[in-house]
Order: sequence, then C-alpha cells, then structure tokens
Amino acid sequence: MAYETIEVNPISPVIGAEIAGVDISKPLGNQTFREIHDALMEHQVIFFRDQEMTLDEHKTFGRMFGELHIHPSAPKPEGHPEVLVIHADENSKVVAGMKWHSDVSCDVEPPMGSILHMHELPPVGGDTMFASMYAAYDALSEPIKDFIADKQAWHESIGVHLHRFGHKGASLRDGDNGYPEALHPIVRTHPVSGRKALFVNENFTTRIEGLKKNESDAILKMLYDHIATPEFHCRFRWQEKSVAFWDNRSAQHRTVWDYYPQVRHGYRVTICGDKPF
Ligand code: SIN
Repeated sequence: MAYETIEVNPISPVIGAEIAGVDISKPLGNQTFREIHDALMEHQVIFFRDQEMTLDEHKTFGRMFGELHIHPSAPKPEGHPEVLVIHADENSKVVAGMKWHSDVSCDVEPPMGSILHMHELPPVGGDTMFASMYAAYDALSEPIKDFIADKQAWHESIGVHLHRFGHKGASLRDGDNGYPEALHPIVRTHPVSGRKALFVNENFTTRIEGLKKNESDAILKMLYDHIATPEFHCRFRWQEKSVAFWDNRSAQHRTVWDYYPQVRHGYRVTICGDKPF
C-alpha cells in the first residue's frame, strides 16, 4: 500500500508497524486519517512514538474511528467514563491483559479497536505482545477449519472482571448486567478485509456451544496453544508517550508483567465494534 502523509515501518512480516510523521493529538486531515486506518487494516496493530496527549485529545483521536466503548465494570477516572486505566505497581496482585485476549470479547458487540497511551514505564520490561488471528486461522489444517467453521463459543466476563479483578457494583455500565456474556462464531469474517480470523481467547472464551465439556476444553486448549505460536506474533517495546492502536477483530494481545514491583501506567480508549459474523 502507498502512503503519502505518514511513514509505515513494519516490525514483523506478519503483524505490527510503527507509524512516523504524525501528531495524533492534533486534528487529522482526511487523507492522514484514511492512511492511519489503512495501516491499521494492513498491519492489525500500529504504534506511534513521542505522542503528548491529554485524555481529551486521546478520546478525540479515538472518536475519529467510531463511538467510544464504556467498559462494563472497570473503575473509570473521574469525568472520563470512556477511559480505562492500565496500572501496575508494588501493590498489584494482577494486571490487565496477562492472558491472550481480544478486548471485552464478552460483549455482544465487542470493540473494534483499542488505543493505549503509556505515561510511565519500568526501566526495563513491560512489553506487550500481539498475535495475528488471520495468521493463526490460515495456518490451521483444512479438517480443523471445516470442524470449527460453523461452531460458536461462549465468551464470559464474570470470571475475569469480578473474580480476578474484583470489579464490583458502583460503576457497572449495564445496571444488573455488569458481567456480560456472548455467543460468537469461532471464526469471524473481518468486516473490512473480508479475511477469516480466529475469534476465541483464553481470557474470556469458556466453552464451545453444543460440545461436551471435555471435548470443548480439549479443542479450546488446542486453539489457545496454536494462538501462542511465536511466528504469528510481534512484541512491542514501549517508551514513555508511545501509543499502540490494535484491531480487536483480527489481533489478540497479552501484556508481559516481568517488572514487578516497578510502576507501569497508561490509559486506554476502546472503540465500539459490531456483532461478529
Ligand atoms: C490491555 O490488555 O489492554 C493491556 C495491555 C498492556 O498493558 O500491555
């Protein structure tokens, strides 16, 4: 793809590219917006360096790509219900994103994308890994592709948001339904590229509809092991003020918590998506 207003430098042949030549805190021209969107579609996750951005500017950038998503249960910073705080320090018992996942896939309409801006980092460590679900799907054998083609799986949030993170009561988005669950196809078709992508993840997906528990567990484990294949991945080394923007429909990610007890702090805005098909 030819880019005229930004520079796009892939960091792996499969997934991930660094973007240079743009300040995303400022209004973007139509062509620059289109090129950033094209780069995201081409590389599934894109990275920007040295971005000075307030929470309002971060939200404005996110809104160029769609309505902002409100997390069903996580605490929100005062005045910014669309912002998710990503924080770890010496008191942390768990941190967000330690298993491979697509953000909030427990929603009936899971997010299209997420934009994470990192403000404070440990001296070393704290990378984020990304995995291409196109590459993972493409590498499956034809008999497995045939088997999962018409299967659906449940994505549940209560085990993650209540039992692991202890999100309780006060800030629930959906009233009584603070811990959503949804049935999604195991293989989704990306609404822009038309490509097929695996859409189960070890964070939220609990069982395949219609199978016995032992059958479902075995197939999900096989798919999770497959998704963990390094050849489908890239790994991003953050600097302060770096931004990562990923497509939750075609990529999964997981954070690497190798820096305890150091501090790592940033903010994420998440963009609403569609029901997977
Ligand atoms: C997330 O899952 O959004 C957090 C990723 C990270 O902190 O590296």
